[in-house]
Amino acid sequence: MRLIRRLGPGDVPALLAHLLGLSQIDRRLRFCGAASDSLIRHYCATIDWGRSLLLGCFSGRNLVGAIHLLWSDPARSDAVEFTLSVDRQEKGKGIGTELLQRAMNTARSRGVSRLNFVCPAEDEPMQRLALKMGGRLLTDGVQVDGTIELARPTEMPAFAVAPAKEELRRSGTR
Ligand SMILES: CC(C)(COP(=O)(O)OP(=O)(O)OC[C@H]1O[C@@H](n2cnc3c(N)ncnc32)[C@H](O)[C@@H]1OP(=O)(O)O)[C@@H](O)C(=O)NCCC(=O)NCCS
Repeated sequence: MRLIRRLGPGDVPALLAHLLGLSQIDRRLRFCGAASDSLIRHYCATIDWGRSLLLGCFSGRNLVGAIHLLWSDPARSDAVEFTLSVDRQEKGKGIGTELLQRAMNTARSRGVSRLNFVCPAEDEPMQRLALKMGGRLLTDGVQVDGTIELARPTEMPAFAVAPAKEELRRSGTR
């Protein structure tokens, strides 16, 4: 069974194991450049938890995917960057979509208006995932800068709530 939950400093060993388990290609896509074991260890040891929000996807006790949101400028809610990765054996099962969707919801509820990411131009799965979420992509042919706008809670369409109320009325709950 899959569980997505927020990660804290106590989850660093699991995060490290997940990231070290990525293939060399996936490491390059995730870190937008070559990532040695020592770079990954340094990354995990220096996460700025005060400016970060991490969500992890667990399959049993194993961390099989993670997304890191970083408020690069705490004064600006539109300056939030994310990086995302999923274990090679677990790719293509919807985990990336679930993690990004959950991160979007969490960020939106904190007043964030857009999420940004960077990936190499050959990272087709990431670009397709972002487009699926309504994202925009800009590329110079080498690197892609992606943006996903987050609708404010007040801009959520009314029909997202109304049917549920109607259901409650019909079922006699209210
Ligand atoms: C990008 C990544 C996180 C996607 O995770 P995932 O769990 O495989 O994604 P999902 O199964 O939710 O699929 C999401 C979408 O990606 C696209 N996608 C998935 N696998 C793909 C593939 N092999 N080729 C092209 N597109 C693909 C599809 O559009 C898919 O949506 P759909 O199935 O509804 O069409 C994963 O491939 C990964 O960890 N890559 C290496 C690290 C990386 O690239 N990180 C991004 C840098 S920010």
